[in-house]
Amino acid sequence: MEPVAFVEVVESVELHELRRNVLRGGDPTAIVEDPRDDRPDSLHLAVRLDDGLVAIGSFYVSTSPRDPTQPSMQLRYLATDPGWQRHGFGAMLLREGEALLIRRGVDSLWANARDTALGFYLCEGWETLPNSEHLSAETQLPHTVIVKQLGHLER
Ligand SMILES: CC(C)(COP(=O)(O)OP(=O)(O)OC[C@H]1O[C@@H](n2cnc3c(N)ncnc32)[C@H](O)[C@@H]1OP(=O)(O)O)[C@@H](O)C(=O)NCCC(=O)NCCS
Repeated sequence: MEPVAFVEVVESVELHELRRNVLRGGDPTAIVEDPRDDRPDSLHLAVRLDDGLVAIGSFYVSTSPRDPTQPSMQLRYLATDPGWQRHGFGAMLLREGEALLIRRGVDSLWANARDTALGFYLCEGWETLPNSEHLSAETQLPHTVIVKQLGHLER
């Protein structure tokens, strides 16, 4: 039988291994936790395929960098296992997350996106914030702030 992939809500601790391996080059000393991980309004999602997680992402309540008056959530630690990239799992996680957050009344999302992943986010309907290019303090990699408006989508 074909393996079935599905998105599930998980505890943040289940995401540390993929966060470290995909986003921090496997560095055992890297910090792979966000201080907001255990807040009840944070959302951690994973795509499960057979017994393993193949894609992960976390959403945190946060002020929108485009409009500080707008309720928003920040997407962090989006990653797909390198052996499963370009199989649609990152997009599956994002779309499921957006649908869930729309039901919670969230109007917009934002993220500090790695420039190497910008093509992916643009495919998924995100926009770059003008003049927001910067180097990440954590990884020293080029990043750009991206935003996605959810408010116009159906609740
Ligand atoms: C970025 C990342 C999460 C995308 O996940 P993925 O599961 O490989 O993406 P998907 O297979 O769902 O891709 C969806 C679409 O985006 C495109 N895409 C994926 N990665 C892309 C990239 N780096 N540049 C341009 N387009 C990309 C795919 O071709 C696909 O389009 P298609 O359906 O027309 O083929 C994954 O490549 C990754 O983990 N990269 C390393 C870590 C990283 O950079 N994370 C983001 C931190 S901000």
